[in-house]
Amino acid sequence: FFFRERVKIIQILILFLCVHFSNFDRKMYHYGTFPEGFSWGISSSAYQIEGGWNADGKGPSIWDTFTQTTDTIPDKANGNVACESYNRLNEDLYMLRALRVKSYRFSLSWSRIFPDGTRKSLNQKGVDYYNRLIDGLIAYNIEPIVTIYHWDLPEALQKVYDWDKAEMIDIFNDYCDFCFATFGDRVKFWITINQPQTIGWSGYGLGNMPPNVKDPGYRPYIVAHNLIKAHAKAYHTYDDKYRQSQGGLISIALNADWAEPKDVSIRREVVAADRAMQFQLGWFAHPIFKNGDYPDALKWQVGNKSEIQGFPQSRLPSFTEEEKNFIKGTADVFCVNHYTTKIVSHITARLSPESYEYDWDFKEEEENDSPTTAIPNQKVVAWGLRRLLNWIKEEYGDPEIYITENGVATEAQTTWDDSDRVFFYKAYIDEALKAYELDGVTVKGYIATSLMDSFEWLNGYKVGFGLHHVDFSNPNRSRTPKYSAHFYYNIIKDNGFPFVLYFGQKVPFWSHLTRAPSSTCLLCPPHGLWQTTNGTSYGFLLTMAFFLPLFHKGQLCAVHD
Ligand code: NOJ
Repeated sequence: FFFRERVKIIQILILFLCVHFSNFDRKMYHYGTFPEGFSWGISSSAYQIEGGWNADGKGPSIWDTFTQTTDTIPDKANGNVACESYNRLNEDLYMLRALRVKSYRFSLSWSRIFPDGTRKSLNQKGVDYYNRLIDGLIAYNIEPIVTIYHWDLPEALQKVYDWDKAEMIDIFNDYCDFCFATFGDRVKFWITINQPQTIGWSGYGLGNMPPNVKDPGYRPYIVAHNLIKAHAKAYHTYDDKYRQSQGGLISIALNADWAEPKDVSIRREVVAADRAMQFQLGWFAHPIFKNGDYPDALKWQVGNKSEIQGFPQSRLPSFTEEEKNFIKGTADVFCVNHYTTKIVSHITARLSPESYEYDWDFKEEEENDSPTTAIPNQKVVAWGLRRLLNWIKEEYGDPEIYITENGVATEAQTTWDDSDRVFFYKAYIDEALKAYELDGVTVKGYIATSLMDSFEWLNGYKVGFGLHHVDFSNPNRSRTPKYSAHFYYNIIKDNGFPFVLYFGQKVPFWSHLTRAPSSTCLLCPPHGLWQTTNGTSYGFLLTMAFFLPLFHKGQLCAVHD
């Protein structure tokens, strides 16, 4: 490489960097790191990975009953064996340790601990399993983040009570109380319920998930009402009985897509997008994080429609003043699960049949310019995460935020070469970094979904979210790290996307924001992180032309070494 050529390239590079940093927009890449002590984690949930569905006294859950009887799941798949984590604890711990994650978010199977859902049926072997898991994590210095209830309600409770009955509130509280008392000496981060919006809408509105109730206009609101009260009660139990001695924190994991107005210059569209945020996230977050009550958008929409539909009162139940005070402020941090962004515009929806979905008065479309994934309505729209985090900051008064799920599906046949997932994490984590560093959002942790390919609910084993591949045809359920595991390991090691010092100058360690490739880059064969999305991002190639001779065996290629 001749000196003159290098000087020229440096000049072009400087020009590129100037453009890069002055013209900052949503496609630009931001270099920097998260605060010290940032909680880098990875997630799973009991029904998706454990298997052992009736082992050692475990009772059935509604997901056992559903999957064993329905034929709506591809290949009639179920979680009977799944990743067999119930018998492969050491393998799971090994993967977690190798990734060097700071936290592991997993869930407790309620019916493994209480086979009939209540304390009188306590199954000590189930408790022992979670004790081994928690102790193993702590031995490796990994913080357990424990979801108490991730959709797998004990079948015995479903038969008698169901979430549309208020009795469930005390029953859930007693289960939580037991968990705090039993595991709380070591668990310092509790999540009461995972995605209550999914339970309410998919379980009781659409009816495509268990308990498969199709009552879209009424039951989702009743169920959500009880879930909110159940969460609040468990929070107070922790607060009153355990917080002082155990010193942990407790929250609820809420799912939120970002709703982008179709046309930001039209007020009605902006309002519709905000309404979309309120109907999905605000339904739960507004009572818990704001004032103990539902957002105005919900009260207004459902109230009005109910009146026109001839109901004597709103289909949206209301909280008493006492209940509002009880619910308000019942989360120590904000936990959000995020996957995608929707483009939202106003419509006037039909009145009949009455439905949560028609109460919205908006329609959702996919974002045109974004890559598709193995799940049709989950496009990769990374910039939506930054907007979502900013919206949460504004709406709920700058809470500490943990992204408790974020990840992407690839086809099950994807084994180790998951460059689409690498692109996803690269882009989404960078948007979280922008929210933290540039916008001042208090992002405290990021949890990638998921530790390994597992039972993906209604998609069975057709798709995988894992950073590890699991061979489901192998009785050993062998686990293999994918490229994304190596990539995530490096992000954790670097605490983000730092600059490196080269002759005293800060240079980006990673490339410009690029799309995962279909063909590979000239210089860095198969991982392809560096390929450009379109003709505008040649920065990497220039960087490489200069640095590769010097760094080829060094840091710049660490991702795939
Ligand atoms: C959200 C659920 O909480 C999680 O269990 C699931 O794996 C992801 N969605 C992906 O579908």
